Amino acid sequence: MIGQGHIPVLLEEVLQHLNIEREGIYIDCTLGLGGHASALLQRNPGAELIGLDRDERSLQVARERLRDFADRIQIFHSDFRFLPELEVDFSRVKGVLVDLGISSFQLDDPERGFSFNQEGPLDMRMDQRAKTTAARILEKYSEPHLAQVFFEYGELRQSRKLARAIVSKRKIRKFESTTQLFQIVEEVCHWRAQKGKSHPAARVFQALRIEINQELQDLGDFLREIADRLPAGGRIAFISFHSLEDRIVKHTLTDLASDGEGRSPILKILTKKPITPSAPEVEANFRSRSAKLRAAEKL
Ligand SMILES: C[S@@+](CC[C@H](N)C(=O)[O-])C[C@H]1O[C@@H](n2cnc3c(N)ncnc32)[C@H](O)[C@@H]1O
Repeated sequence: MIGQGHIPVLLEEVLQHLNIEREGIYIDCTLGLGGHASALLQRNPGAELIGLDRDERSLQVARERLRDFADRIQIFHSDFRFLPELEVDFSRVKGVLVDLGISSFQLDDPERGFSFNQEGPLDMRMDQRAKTTAARILEKYSEPHLAQVFFEYGELRQSRKLARAIVSKRKIRKFESTTQLFQIVEEVCHWRAQKGKSHPAARVFQALRIEINQELQDLGDFLREIADRLPAGGRIAFISFHSLEDRIVKHTLTDLASDGEGRSPILKILTKKPITPSAPEVEANFRSRSAKLRAAEKL
């Protein structure tokens, strides 16, 4: 079955930090292919699960995978930032998981355009209902705007040079395929393979993906809202895959766990340092290498 090869990242650590033995509702904000969710539902027969994802194709796989638990799950095709608008009885919520980014299922499908080493359309939308694709951004954004995206979300040194080259090339021919974008990155960024250094195209693709899906938008506010609604003892676990996300999660959790202006802490941080995958996990699943798990409990 499609996606059966998908390995949930930091699975044991997530289940442990969510303290999944308790009966009640668990919310998986990024259900993906249902890897974390199926383990949780299997191990705790008293758990109910609410799962959300922006990607309908992943949800189709998740629904199939979780069909044995159909009476205990509710699935929504939605951005998790709309969670506060759903009718959820938060007083029964025991744990919330947010496993950010994209899955191998999305990355490995050339048609989705997420991968720089596979030929495909410049799409990169997590949600097929959205209008903005990578091709549209490369066609419409001004040179300074493109440079800002590459610099802020990809931390790319040659961001201005690349933006200039794209704007000049697009006058002749539209950017439509991942290969076209990859080629121009190679021309501009002159990359030599070096240990520990990723290809600049990885940064460029990451930057566009973040911009298209507005991945960092309101992440801190979302975390605050969930922390506010959780009942005492409710837990929240966040897995992030790059420093931009992790920085937001870390600062928000630290803030909520400290005295603020006229308020007491509302969270206790359970992970002094972020938890990262063990060497055997990275060996078994190379894509887990950059994962960082942070968790907290409502006071
Ligand atoms: C790393 S995968 C999750 C994998 C999942 N934990 C599993 O074990 O199968 C991340 C998922 O989050 C989804 N996603 C990312 N941002 C989202 C958002 N703002 N709202 C809803 N889903 C989102 C992606 O579509 C993707 O399916």
